[in-house]
Amino acid sequence: MVKASITDLPDEFYRGKTVLVRVDYNVPLREGNVADDYRIRVSIPTLNYLSSRAAKLVLASHLGRPEGKRDMKMSLRPVAMRLQSLLPGRGVRWVGECVGPEANRAVKELKNGEILMLENLRFHDGEEKNEENFSSSLASLAEIFVNEAFSASHRKHASVYGAPALLQYRLAGIHMGRELAYLTKVRELPDRPFVLAVGGAKIRDKIDALRRLIEKADKVLVGGCVAYTFLASKGISVGRSPVENEFVPWASEALRKEGKIILPHDHLAALDAESVSQVSLIEGEIPQNLIGFDIGPSTSQTYISTILSAGGTVFWNGPMGLFEMRRFSYGTTGVALAMALAKFRGATTIVGGGDSVSALAKAGVMDSEISHVSTGGGAALEYIGGKTLPGVEVLSNR
Ligand code: 3PG
Repeated sequence: MVKASITDLPDEFYRGKTVLVRVDYNVPLREGNVADDYRIRVSIPTLNYLSSRAAKLVLASHLGRPEGKRDMKMSLRPVAMRLQSLLPGRGVRWVGECVGPEANRAVKELKNGEILMLENLRFHDGEEKNEENFSSSLASLAEIFVNEAFSASHRKHASVYGAPALLQYRLAGIHMGRELAYLTKVRELPDRPFVLAVGGAKIRDKIDALRRLIEKADKVLVGGCVAYTFLASKGISVGRSPVENEFVPWASEALRKEGKIILPHDHLAALDAESVSQVSLIEGEIPQNLIGFDIGPSTSQTYISTILSAGGTVFWNGPMGLFEMRRFSYGTTGVALAMALAKFRGATTIVGGGDSVSALAKAGVMDSEISHVSTGGGAALEYIGGKTLPGVEVLSNR
């Protein structure tokens, strides 16, 4: 069922109405400043859309996991300041609460077109417990609910589920609509050929999504730690690289059934990541004393040319190696650059998962060079894996 979007209603509908916008401004902070504002930037079209139609906007988000306690290290105030700098000419007000008299007063003072940022929802334990009282306090702030927080939509929390359920209009924001459109297409009916590039730390975190995507994909390129479990399942030595033993039988079965899975044939390996120990280029089996930290240059070449010749859809989730360290970043950077070039050549390219998104930035690839960059790590994988997300389910149908 297609969900209703803010763009489905007439412009005049919003004039003077108060809209509770659930955003996901759970962004990294460094020394009290926003270190990566991607999640803030993607919400801007929705905020501009509503504000220019004279709605009064109340923004609600969580930040970190303060576990129901007021911890000022996780205050959203610096985020409100960054938002203000991204919205020159539009006033962004701030209130140090998200429910109660102070918040109610701040909402009442809002004029048409103005934006108010509330303090961290998770300072109240009612948020994560989806408590009725907390949900109704939040819902009482507004007449319309908008979800612009795809990346938090797998959480059955008050601001994602309980509060919107109490409001008549429950709409998807502009980026949320894009997330649903792109990820539903990948999940159900991707344009072919469909190439999946998958890496990252653990199969466990993405097993449902992997099952579905491997079945749908025409080619699967495997890197990161995920690759070592697949290699081990073929009886290939991976040295001291991490292997998820519980998934070895599954990996072996997937390799047998599907001739489409491509594994790394060379590796960058070392005694450990940190020390200045020498990095070895290994072809084939990794010696017992070494750990693989990146795919090797020949594998990288294979992966790049597979992505570039795809033409249909390429979905990438999870880095190919320990890309945070320069010497193990080449495999991931290669995939990131290939994704950009593949879009330029006409493919639909989709990147999901926090690490892959940072890897894009590290490789100097801009968001506009990828068809769709998903804000959701866990949420995107759960959605692709076939789960119904509470924050999507609760939205009004179109
Ligand atoms: C995320 O960063 O994945 C979302 O903001 C959800 O955060 P959570 O995992 O703390 O619920």
